[in-house]
Order: sequence, then structure tokens, then C-alpha cells
Amino acid sequence: MAPSLLAADWGRVTEEVTRAINSGADWLHLDVMDGHFVDNISFGPQMIQAIHESNDIFLDVHLMITRPDHYLPRFLACGADMITVHVEAEHNVAHTLSEIRKAGVLAGLALNPATPFEEVIPHLSNIDLLLPMTVVPGFGGQAFMEDMMLKVEAAAAFRSEHNLNFHIEVDGGINAETAAIAAKAGANVLVAGSSSFGAKDMKAAITAMREA
Ligand code: DX5
Ligand code: ZN
Repeated sequence: MAPSLLAADWGRVTEEVTRAINSGADWLHLDVMDGHFVDNISFGPQMIQAIHESNDIFLDVHLMITRPDHYLPRFLACGADMITVHVEAEHNVAHTLSEIRKAGVLAGLALNPATPFEEVIPHLSNIDLLLPMTVVPGFGGQAFMEDMMLKVEAAAAFRSEHNLNFHIEVDGGINAETAAIAAKAGANVLVAGSSSFGAKDMKAAITAMREA
């Protein structure tokens, strides 16, 4: 379970991170948006550095930015444990993934709902995580796109056929009900914003999603 900080109370970030950790979060999902790749602006490496300096939780950084290659050195230096870049962004995808791994950070590759699974196939032997988005990225609180489970199933099938071992993460519209659907399709990392930070009892919400 990876709660997304995007849905936290940003006036109390430190307390919110602690709340996620105490509620049983395995990873903390950090959504970086540049106002260009997606129609929203969030936060950058300084925020991630601050969270890294005061916590031990695994930091799962999701870069929704047009030029991940340009900003990569800064994100590699801020304490991220995993950096996920989009296949649709303007960069040499293979090179960016190899730079991430060279720095000793886990490399993830995300694809938007409109992007076919075939686009990521050339990279599947060089990643630690695949993220088929279950919403159009940019905002929390959107509805889960169940038809994206075809991509999750295709990725899981490809992985076993080729003896690979990347994680499959889903992000967008995850709650106890959709978590079960995604897990059944083959996802093993579930990102949840609204349904985790938005819950009164975050621990109960995370437990419910994990059990689902
Ligand atoms: C969407 C982000 C998500 C977002 C998920 O652009 O990548 O991580 O925070 O939010 P929910 O869980 O509310 O759909
Ligand atoms: Zn995300």
C-alpha cells in the first residue's frame, strides 16, 4: 500500500507522513507535476528531500514532468528510493531508466490510459516497476478506469513468459473495491490518495485495501 501525499493536508505535511507510516503504509507515493506534462503543479525535489530527512519510509516518486532527463540529477539526489518516469515524456526512455538504476535507485515506467501496452514492451527487462495509470494523471479523486486491467493482465503475462520480475503498480481511483479488482488482475503495489489520506481512520482504510 502506497498512500499518495497529493491527498494529504499540506499545511501539516510532517504529521501527515507520520499518520501514513503509523497507519501501515509500506511506501509513500510522491506525485511530482510540472504544469506541462499534466495540467497541475505539485512539488519538487526539496519537498522530497525534507520528507527523506525526517523519515525512513520507502519513497516512491512519480514524475509527471515533460523533461525527466533534465531534472533527473536533482531527483536522484533527494532521497528517492524509486523514480517512475512516463514513457510519453520527452526523453530517451531507455537512457533515463539506465541512469536511474546506475545511481542505485529503483526505476519505474508509467503509461497513460491512452498509451497502448506495446509502447513499454522494449523497456520491460530494464525496470523495477511498471505503472499502468488507472486515471488520466494530474488530479486525485478521479474514477478508476477498469478497462486498464487489460494492460495489467498483459504485463503480468509478459512478465511470467519472459521470466522478469518488475512490480506492477496501479494509481488512480483505488479504494477497497477497486483494489480487489486491480490485485486480481495482477497488480501488487496499490497507490491510494483520497481513499487513504482522505479517510478519517487511515489505518482502517489501508487495512481494508490490503485485505481486499
Ligand atoms: C494522479 C496521481 C495519483 C493521485 C491518486 O495524477 O498520479 O497518484 O494522487 O489519487 P486518488 O487515489 O485520489 O485517485
Ligand atoms: Zn501518482
